[in-house]
Amino acid sequence: MNKIIKIKTFGNRSKGFLSFFESNKDIPFEIKRIYYIYNVPVNTKRGMHAHKELNQVLWCPYGEIEVILDNGKEKKSYLLDSPEKALLVGKGIWHDMYWKKENSVLCVAASEYYNEEDYIRDYEDFLRYVKEGYWNDENKLY
Ligand code: TYD
Repeated sequence: MNKIIKIKTFGNRSKGFLSFFESNKDIPFEIKRIYYIYNVPVNTKRGMHAHKELNQVLWCPYGEIEVILDNGKEKKSYLLDSPEKALLVGKGIWHDMYWKKENSVLCVAASEYYNEEDYIRDYEDFLRYVKEGYWNDENKLY
């Protein structure tokens, strides 16, 4: 988790491209929910939360979105600037997303149904959560 993966892609310039990934094969979890965020003004920051149990994969089929991951010890920036790139974001990782280009679309496939109880929306709570021992090797950023 917490790394960019290349989405399998077929196609060519004359006919166009098709990209795909499958649960438990190309991404390391089962997908229960898909959502997408669009019509976001450039330079908008969204996200600003972590999840206790949810694993997600983020990709940008159109446009350019920067995602900053923060595991409570370090932060890294990942640029979703191609429909062939996806970012795996594991549980316990604070994430902020910045819309870099007009009309950029962020798609997300998630391992669980929507559950507000799973959100950590306060950064100080997140740091306490990390300190309380929820940090392990799975929280590393690659
Ligand atoms: P939210 O996670 O708060 O987005 P942001 O923090 O970027 O504004 O989601 C906005 C609203 O949508 C919130 O009321 C919860 C709802 N929601 C669902 O009902 N299902 C979902 O899968 C998601 C992601 C959000």
